[in-house]
Amino acid sequence: MKKVTLVIGVCILIWSCEQNQSLPQEMNYGIQNEVILSKVTDGIHTPTGLIADQGLESVLRHCVSCHSSKLITQNRATEEGWTSMIHWMYETQNLPQLGDQEPIIVSYLSKHYAPVASGRRKDLGNLEWYPLQEEN
Ligand code: HEC
Repeated sequence: MKKVTLVIGVCILIWSCEQNQSLPQEMNYGIQNEVILSKVTDGIHTPTGLIADQGLESVLRHCVSCHSSKLITQNRATEEGWTSMIHWMYETQNLPQLGDQEPIIVSYLSKHYAPVASGRRKDLGNLEWYPLQEEN
């Protein structure tokens, strides 16, 4: 009888631990790794500046060992664009094959680092104007 109680007790314990782990998607950004999640502030993984979302874990594992994450955050591309950048790195930069992680990474990148569609150029920002002088 005691054994049965123990087994049930352990089951309840495991069950309650699992309940704690499954935070709603909007709170954990789909990230399972506690260490990564603890470094996310306002939806940004602060050590790298990458946007927190599903796929970030894979990007951190495969994409920041050779170069800064800035190369990623400063780039914008479509799904095809990101795929071809990755294939270029396979061919010329010794990037190891990503296998089943490639579609996860490409989907993360093309979702968050997509080309910004804008019909108008960006404002030039703080400009110092100066009077034009006539050439003599
Ligand atoms: C094996 C090393 C290595 C890994 C791992 C790696 N890269 Fe690169 N990547 C490079 C090198 C080398 C360059 C060229 C750097 C330069 O020009 O300064 C580069 C350049 C880039 C660029 C700039 C391309 C351009 O046209 O300007 C981007 C974006 C990039 N990598 C994204 C990624 C992503 C995303 C991953 C993860 C899938 C990744 N990298 C993983 C080696 C790597």
